[in-house]
Amino acid sequence: MEKKIQTETSSRSVADVRKEIDAIDRQIAELVEKRMRRTDEIGEIKAEKGLPVFDPAREDAVLEALTSSVSPDVRQDLTALYRLLFARSRVRQSELRAGSGENSLSVLVLNGPNLDMLGIREPELYGNRDYASLVEFIGQAAKEENILVSCVQSNSEPELIDRIHASMGRYDGIVFNPAAYTHTSVALLDALKAVGLPCVEVHLTDVSSREPFRAVSYVRQACIACVTGEGFEGYRKALKILKEHLLPSENK
Ligand code: DQA
Repeated sequence: MEKKIQTETSSRSVADVRKEIDAIDRQIAELVEKRMRRTDEIGEIKAEKGLPVFDPAREDAVLEALTSSVSPDVRQDLTALYRLLFARSRVRQSELRAGSGENSLSVLVLNGPNLDMLGIREPELYGNRDYASLVEFIGQAAKEENILVSCVQSNSEPELIDRIHASMGRYDGIVFNPAAYTHTSVALLDALKAVGLPCVEVHLTDVSSREPFRAVSYVRQACIACVTGEGFEGYRKALKILKEHLLPSENK
C-alpha cells in the first residue's frame, strides 16, 4: 500500500501536485471565510441572548462527526486544524461581544508577539489558557467596567505601530502588552508618545524577576502605569487604572 502511494506520487512533478494543492487551498480559503461569517452571525445571536461564547459540547460534537467521516490517518490532522479554527471562532465572537453595547469609554487592548501562542508557549510561565480565553476574559472584564474594548494581537512591530497610530481619535486609551518588543522597541515608545493617549503597560509574568533584559522597558516612559505578574487579572487591573485616570469622579 505504502509502495503504491510512493509510485503514484513520484510519477508527477512537485509543480504539478502543488498546482492541485493551490486550487484546494483557494477552496479552503473561501470556505473559511464563509464559515467565519456564519460564526459571526452566531456570535451576534449568542451576545443578544447572553449565551457563552465557549460551547465545548458543540465543539466536541462537530469534531466527532467530522473525524468519523475521514480516513483514520488524517483524523489527527483534522482534529488539530479544527481546534485552531474553533479557537479563532471564539476570538471573533469574543471580540464582537466586547465591541458591542452602550459604553462610556473605548479602549484598545493591544497584544504583541507570541501572545497568540498562549496555552502552547511555556505553560509553566504563561499558563494553559489560550489567546481566545484571554480575549474572552478581557471582554468580560471590560463589560463589568462598562468599557468598550477592541482586542488586537500582532506578531509584527510595524502593525503594532500602525494600530497605535490608528487609535488616535478612536479610543480613549490603550492597554498594551508589547511582549518581547517591550525590551527592544524605541519605535513603539515613539508611537505611543506620538498619539499621546493614556496607556497602561501589562505583562502576564513578573518581568522584573526574570532574565535581566526583561527588566528593561522602552514603552514604560509613555505609560501611566505598569501591571506585571498578575496573569489575565492584570488586564482587568489595567482597564480599571485607565478608567480611574479617564473618569476619576466615577470611581469615588
Ligand atoms: C510578556 C513578558 C515578555 O518579556 C515576553 O517577551 C512576552 C510576554 C508577559 O506578558 O509576561 O512575550 O510580555
